Amino acid sequence: MRVRKAILPDAEGIHELIAVYSKDGTLLPRSLAELCENIRDFTVVEDETGILGCGALHLYGTHLAEIRSIAVWPALKKKGAGRLLIEALLGEADEHHVTGVCLFTRIPDFFAHMGFKAAQREELPDKIYKDCMNCPRLHACDEVAMVRGELPHFAILARPERGMVKLQI
Ligand SMILES: CC(C)(COP(=O)(O)OP(=O)(O)OC[C@H]1O[C@@H](n2cnc3c(N)ncnc32)[C@H](O)[C@@H]1OP(=O)(O)O)[C@@H](O)C(=O)NCCC(=O)NCCS
Repeated sequence: MRVRKAILPDAEGIHELIAVYSKDGTLLPRSLAELCENIRDFTVVEDETGILGCGALHLYGTHLAEIRSIAVWPALKKKGAGRLLIEALLGEADEHHVTGVCLFTRIPDFFAHMGFKAAQREELPDKIYKDCMNCPRLHACDEVAMVRGELPHFAILARPERGMVKLQI
């Protein structure tokens, strides 16, 4: 098994894999167009048979990044691919001098095993303003917010009326 950054020809395989887990709401659905646009966020793990799993690192700034869309094909779970993906994405966050990495999940035990700690979603305003405010489950969210590293001390928010603003938390 080896990990590498995704390239555009991986987009269809990533799309199929995410679709497997978005049917039941485990992962947010991602369109092929959206995956092509954001392919540079993605890392894949593969062997000689093809792609085993994928995961993405979304950068908010040096104060915060988010692990998203992490998945391993159902038949290939529990063989170490997930750990390889997490380690690669955390390494990428380090390369960008990011001080804290967050994610929202329904399997906190796995991410606790990977060194993440539970957090309050209010401590992650970048994520709330990017995704949660537009989510139908805003007030009925069953996902656990988790962070590895430092909680952010500020947020960088896109406000239509004021452009980008940097807020102290
Ligand atoms: C989460 C997921 C990516 C893990 O991938 P994986 O390849 O099975 O994980 P690994 O085999 O690398 O497991 C790494 C370690 O975590 C443990 N682990 C795996 N799944 C776990 C779980 N659900 N809960 C707790 N620990 C778990 C393994 O036992 C292993 O421990 P070890 O290294 O001490 O032996 C995979 O289960 C998956 O695709 N799930 C569906 C999609 C999903 O829920 N994604 C997360 C959305 S936030």
